[in-house]
Amino acid sequence: MPKPGQLVLLVSPRGKRYLRMFEEGGALHTGDGILDYAKVAEAGFGGLARTHLGKAFRVVRPTLYDLVKGVKRQTQIIYPKEIGYILLKLGIGPGRRIIEAGSGSGSLTVAMSWYAGETGRIYTYERRPEFFKLCRANLTRCGVGDNVEQFNHDIADGFLQTGADALFLDVREPWLYLDQAAAAVAPGAALGFLLPTVNQVSDLLAGLEKGPFTDIEVLEIFLRRYKPVPDRLRPEDRMVAHTGFLIFCREQQPLPPEPAPAPEGPSDGDEVENDDIGPCDAEE
Ligand SMILES: C[S@@+](CC[C@H](N)C(=O)[O-])C[C@H]1O[C@@H](n2cnc3c(N)ncnc32)[C@H](O)[C@@H]1O
Repeated sequence: MPKPGQLVLLVSPRGKRYLRMFEEGGALHTGDGILDYAKVAEAGFGGLARTHLGKAFRVVRPTLYDLVKGVKRQTQIIYPKEIGYILLKLGIGPGRRIIEAGSGSGSLTVAMSWYAGETGRIYTYERRPEFFKLCRANLTRCGVGDNVEQFNHDIADGFLQTGADALFLDVREPWLYLDQAAAAVAPGAALGFLLPTVNQVSDLLAGLEKGPFTDIEVLEIFLRRYKPVPDRLRPEDRMVAHTGFLIFCREQQPLPPEPAPAPEGPSDGDEVENDDIGPCDAEE
């Protein structure tokens, strides 16, 4: 049964989703009628609660996906399909110290806060006061954020932490802040970036090439939904074709160039060159 202060997702008969903080004596006013929270409590998670017009709403315990989708947006946000991969690549989890900029609406911040838990720490930077406030409002609304420290600060002036385990930049011109980013993270830390256009990716790559960054990776994630009809299973007619490009790297000097090979001596004729032995052949 939902408890006061707990988030609950109420889904209307037509699939409209309302993410609300449960409170005793409260009610949800909708086009399908008024839904008393006493009825929601009675139904419990997984149950059905009816409005005063008799319309049945599903009472659902929201997952992190629902929370991120429910973030109030005033900026472009990062979507769940990218967030999942970012969390894995940056190793977000308990005990980790992560830096992020800009906070924007806070959709990535919500997910990082959730995964970092009580022992992790998220430092999020935002230069515009209205988005700084919006990020906190969304963290509170999603029931997370105790482990998030916010800075209303332009990252051009540097980050206030050093030795962070990972850093993510979702700003328009991240190549301008690579020195600041490198100074803020621990040696070998993972860094990530999200950019909407290939021109921006080129500018970022040109900046990363100057170092100290290695393991540079550029990728895009596609999500194609299917119509869940057993005997006519097929993709949806429309899909979101583009959200953004993801770029990842590590703060580390690339390997120095290999020394030039020594000039070859006279060959023994039957000698097998190492290059001819693949990894499987070598095992056999
Ligand atoms: C696309 S939004 C970030 C969205 C956020 N990742 C989310 O998922 O909701 C980009 C944000 O970066 C902020 N920003 C841009 N340049 C900045 C800088 N130099 N320092 C701090 N914040 C900056 C902008 O004000 C904007 O709010």
